[in-house]
Amino acid sequence: MPPRFVVVIASLLWMGALSCALDLALEGAWKGWKELHGKAYQEEEEAFRRAVWEKNLHRVHQHNVEASLGKHTFQLAMNHLGDLTDEEFNEMLNGFYPEPNETYNKNAALFQGSATPSTPKEVDWRTKGYVTPVKNQGRCGACWAFSATGALEGLLFNQTGKLVPLSEQNLIDCSQKLGNHGCHGGYITRAFQYVRDNGGLNSEQDYPYVGMGDHSSGLISKWSGKICSLL
Ligand SMILES: *[C@@H]1O[C@H](CO)[C@@H](O)[C@H](O)[C@H]1NC(C)=O
Ligand SMILES: *[C@@H]1O[C@H](CO)[C@@H](O)[C@H](O)[C@H]1NC(C)=O
Repeated sequence: MPPRFVVVIASLLWMGALSCALDLALEGAWKGWKELHGKAYQEEEEAFRRAVWEKNLHRVHQHNVEASLGKHTFQLAMNHLGDLTDEEFNEMLNGFYPEPNETYNKNAALFQGSATPSTPKEVDWRTKGYVTPVKNQGRCGACWAFSATGALEGLLFNQTGKLVPLSEQNLIDCSQKLGNHGCHGGYITRAFQYVRDNGGLNSEQDYPYVGMGDHSSGLISKWSGKICSLL
């Protein structure tokens, strides 16, 4: 068979597979979901995103049916990430690196738990004023920075009685020389190290999140030039 023929047949098969996969009854739901989350795709991407979204929607329904049978203790719902494959989701949002243990400071004091712990079964830190409103890291793999600010916000609240959202962008822009990679992952421990070396961290209000780690962007260098040089 001439090569061109193979290509045509392959793409017909691919389109066939896709149109079979698409559930026409979900047309309205798909449109509504795109509108709700401001999604717009290139024409050639649309069918692929739709197929991924349908698969995820099916997964949500399947899980909830199982939850109603007592197999799970929680429900799922569709959200703005529903058009991503697992691989894309992980690449975009799971940018945490466990600290390689050879870099541990061998002389650091180890946490000593109490011999007779009186730990409650559960604690809701939100009701105690320790937790800021939900933040959204967007399309930036900086979960490490969000983890660090979350911990520091709680600590600060404990010490000052004030809950101040802290700046992930400050960490993304300024802690690269400690081995963090901005939107491409990083270490919570190195974020703490930056805050310690720097003598503090800016508030979210003073150094807002832009969800990008590219220093060539004017928006970021406007901040990082000023703030990182404090280090
Ligand atoms: C680091 O962790 C690995 C795997 O858990 C372990 O085998 C190794 O002994 C550890 N190295 C040090 C220096 O603690
Ligand atoms: C801070 O932590 C200490 C020790 O756990 C606790 O006794 C104290 O009530 C906390 N302060 C606030 C404001 O929650």
